[in-house]
Amino acid sequence: MGTVELTAQTAWLAEAIRQATQTDLAALEWEGAFIHFRRVYARAFQRAQLGDALLWVVERAPGFLIAQLFVLLKSEKEPAVADGRQRAFIHSFRVRPEFRSRGLGSGLLKHAELDLLERGFRWAYLHVADENTAAVRFYERSGYRRVFPVPGDWSYEDHLGMERHVHEPGWRMRKSLTEE
Ligand SMILES: CC(C)(COP(=O)(O)OP(=O)(O)OC[C@H]1O[C@@H](n2cnc3c(N)ncnc32)[C@H](O)[C@@H]1OP(=O)(O)O)[C@@H](O)C(=O)NCCC(=O)NCCS
Repeated sequence: MGTVELTAQTAWLAEAIRQATQTDLAALEWEGAFIHFRRVYARAFQRAQLGDALLWVVERAPGFLIAQLFVLLKSEKEPAVADGRQRAFIHSFRVRPEFRSRGLGSGLLKHAELDLLERGFRWAYLHVADENTAAVRFYERSGYRRVFPVPGDWSYEDHLGMERHVHEPGWRMRKSLTEE
């Protein structure tokens, strides 16, 4: 039964994954829940237009996005995790709560990894908060391994132009894309 469900899910998912367009930026705010990331998403979209990032979304119905996963391909600031050739950094990965634990996250992650492999990348990196034990387990089951602890301090400008600081100590994890 589980296998049948997963197969049906995967078939549907392949049709539903696409790269974000400018008009998706509002939908990525999830009816206001992530309005504070408006400028972060706009910046990510600019990077995508320059060819330095990929913004994957899953569209369940027209304009209704149920999952997202961003990939930073190249960063001048963080070449250790995004060098534009071999290493890419996965971030802003989330599935709407009511759609979790159905294989959607695994399918979207796999899609992003295969796409990176086709582009010639060999390593996928990500940061996960230590207290997000469910995500750490999910990534380990998906083949990611802990590299070293990271302090997880970063800042961003919210939709009102206010500086917000985040402190999420956690792990840098990575996966070899060529060893499967
Ligand atoms: C992490 C996240 C993206 C995973 O998405 P998801 O759609 O729930 O992922 P999956 O359904 O593929 O896998 C989740 C679990 O469901 C299980 N599962 C997968 N397919 C299933 C199915 N058909 N039926 C039942 N369970 C299933 C998996 O075994 C997995 O278990 P595990 O976490 O113990 O490994 C999602 O939980 C999320 O959005 N979390 C909040 C944001 C977050 O923490 N993001 C990561 C930040 S670094």
